[in-house]
Amino acid sequence: LADGPLRGKRILVTSGPTHEPIDPVRYIANRSSGAQGTAIARALAALGAEVIFVTGPADIPPPDGVEVVRVETAREMLEAVQGGLPADAAIFAAAVADWRVASASASKMKKTKGGLPQLDFAENPDILATVSQMTKGRPGLVVGFAAETDDVVENATAKRQRKGCDWILANDVSAGTGIMGGSENAVTLISADGAEDWPRMSKDEVAARLAERIAQALGGGF
Ligand code: C5P
Repeated sequence: LADGPLRGKRILVTSGPTHEPIDPVRYIANRSSGAQGTAIARALAALGAEVIFVTGPADIPPPDGVEVVRVETAREMLEAVQGGLPADAAIFAAAVADWRVASASASKMKKTKGGLPQLDFAENPDILATVSQMTKGRPGLVVGFAAETDDVVENATAKRQRKGCDWILANDVSAGTGIMGGSENAVTLISADGAEDWPRMSKDEVAARLAERIAQALGGGF
C-alpha cells in the first residue's frame, strides 16, 4: 500500500454499470464506462487507502493496488458491498440499474410467430440508500453520485436528503456534454454545507480532488 494521508483507512468504491439478465444470452445495461469510479479508486489507493473496488462489467481494467470484487447485477453488487463492510468511507460511483427483469428466463427466449415477449420488471435495491441508512456499522462518510439532465443541483440536493448520504457529486449528463463515457466531468459537490461547483476537469482530476477531500474529512491531513 502507498504511504499517504489515507494510510490505515479502508474505503469501498462501487463502479461501472450493472447487467440485469433477460435470459442466458440477453441483458439490460447502461452506458456507464466505469471511468470515474476507476479513477476514484486509483486516487484513493495513491493516498494510501486500502480500497475495496466493487465493479460491474466494464471494459476498462481496474486500477492496480486495490481489492477487486466483480459482480454483474445490482443484487450481487449489494451483497458484495455488504460483504466489504465495515469501511471508513464508501463511494458509490456505480450506475446501478434501477430495474431488473422480474423473472429472467432460464433458457433463451424464442421468437414466436405473431407474438412479442412481455417483460415484467422488479425494482432493484438502492445500494447507496441501504448503506446510508444503516443503523449499525455505517461508514463514517458515504458519498453518492447524481447523474442528472435537468435542475442538477436541486435534484441532487433532494437526492442527498432522500438517500441519507453525506455528500453527493452531481453531474450533468445531458446529451452534448460528452460526460457519459467521456474523459471529462463537471461536478458540484453537495454536502450539509451547501453546493460547491468544481470547474470542468478530467475525471482523473475530479478523482484526485475528491480523494483529498475524503482524506481531510477522515482526518488524515492536508
Ligand atoms: O437515484 P440515482 O440512481 O440517481 O442515484 C445515484 C446514486 O445512487 C449513485 O451514487 C449510485 O451509485 C447510487 N445507486 C445505488 N443503487 C441503486 C441506484 C443508485 O447505489 N440501485
